[in-house]
Amino acid sequence: MKIAIVAAEAAPHAKAGGLADVIGSLPGALKVAGEEPSLVVPGYASIKENVETAPVIRDVPMRFGAGVERFSVLRASDPHGVPMYLIDHPGFFERRGIYGENGKDYPDNIRRFVFFGRAAAIVSAEVVAPDILHAHDWHSAAAPIAMRADNGLRPRFKNALSVFTIHNLAFQGISKREDFALLNLEAAYNSVDYLEFYNHLNLMKGAIVLCDGASTVSPTYAQEITTDPELGFGLEGVIRDKGANFVGILNGADYDEWNPAKDREIAATYTAAKPGGKRKCTRALRDSLGLPNREDWPVVGMVTRMTGQKGVDLLKDALDAVMRLDLQLVMLVSGDAVLEKFFKDAELRYPEKLRAIIEFNNTTAHRIQAGSDALLMPSRFEPCGLTQMYALRYGTAPVVRSTGGLRDTVSEFDPAAGTGNGFAFDKFEAAEMVAALSRMVAIFRERADWRALMANCFASDFSWERAARQYVEWFTRLRKARGLS
Ligand code: GLC
Repeated sequence: MKIAIVAAEAAPHAKAGGLADVIGSLPGALKVAGEEPSLVVPGYASIKENVETAPVIRDVPMRFGAGVERFSVLRASDPHGVPMYLIDHPGFFERRGIYGENGKDYPDNIRRFVFFGRAAAIVSAEVVAPDILHAHDWHSAAAPIAMRADNGLRPRFKNALSVFTIHNLAFQGISKREDFALLNLEAAYNSVDYLEFYNHLNLMKGAIVLCDGASTVSPTYAQEITTDPELGFGLEGVIRDKGANFVGILNGADYDEWNPAKDREIAATYTAAKPGGKRKCTRALRDSLGLPNREDWPVVGMVTRMTGQKGVDLLKDALDAVMRLDLQLVMLVSGDAVLEKFFKDAELRYPEKLRAIIEFNNTTAHRIQAGSDALLMPSRFEPCGLTQMYALRYGTAPVVRSTGGLRDTVSEFDPAAGTGNGFAFDKFEAAEMVAALSRMVAIFRERADWRALMANCFASDFSWERAARQYVEWFTRLRKARGLS
């Protein structure tokens, strides 16, 4: 199958969050599975400066609202040798950030990404001729919309199916209704059956309605967003209407980048069979942060963007109770000025127990994963979550709120049965989180139990191989159902 993957982020050169990690891995995994993927992404300066590119098509004019925009197409290759096509439009994409900078979104993001999705559909038709166009999140939603609703493009995708993957339903690409004009579609699509949403334009809704198959990134989140209105963000009915054409496929984790046996960023490498190096990593982490070397206390790591989704506010409310436990907490967090200040101030109150590093830094993320005994993820909701998968790989026990992908990857350790790979709590409540952390601290004191838990962490396998196989099976099923082979 020829698969055109359309996305606004791609690790390593264009990353804002977990979406980039997925787009950095999925194409390579599909290639290994024997398929023929290619990638279509915006021509950000950060990519153009770091990879070799060659022009493919120059100066394509595209009607865009009342005007015309021109773009070129550059060909490059992703780290796994998958062809990567860049939509080159310096006015929209040669900026420092992906969605914005200094904590503020660019005001023209709707224009930028409607343009991107539409251009990506044209490029897919011109250079890929895919069997499947696979678009991700609202920034790519205009691609499957154009593929099905644009009279000029529809015939060119006669034998192709479109699939749309939701990585986060909290961001839907909602805008003022007049922006519908940017799609240059018949007025009929500006209705409640398609792109209209409470008198606004909703790009994600349009993609979900018009795609042949929709998915999200874990089975539990798939179930939650069709049944719990608080998590469905108004689209639960639209998603339910997809019926069997909506599925949940758990992401994989990039085990080349996240591998304690080969990691160059950490103080000592280690493996499940010989985990001794992990103690050195813990020591190095404490030393680098000036934390006392209390080996009787577990180090708890936290690596996250501070959005409402991630539950950092829950930790804020419970911080004093958490600090009463015998543990140390090392946070790598950024994104919310009020919370940043709160944890920096709290550091001064708990000099022996708390460090808050305010930035996003990949090297530090590796050192925290390797040096921590446990990793805290108290998410309010979590479509998949990748950080807990990385933690497991490093023998670091996740302490999670059981929601979305966290529920699908982490289960409570039972010392009697020897089962489970972490600690999980159900309700989004401070007391439940503190209780889970204190169960963790108690197990940490029982060295044999903790060793059994670590072995279960190491044994958890969330490889891309499995995820890619599930995508291929799903694409094949969709094509068969349409009488396409
Ligand atoms: C988003 C979600 C996260 C998921 C990632 C990749 O960032 O919030 O849960 O792991 O996308 O699918």
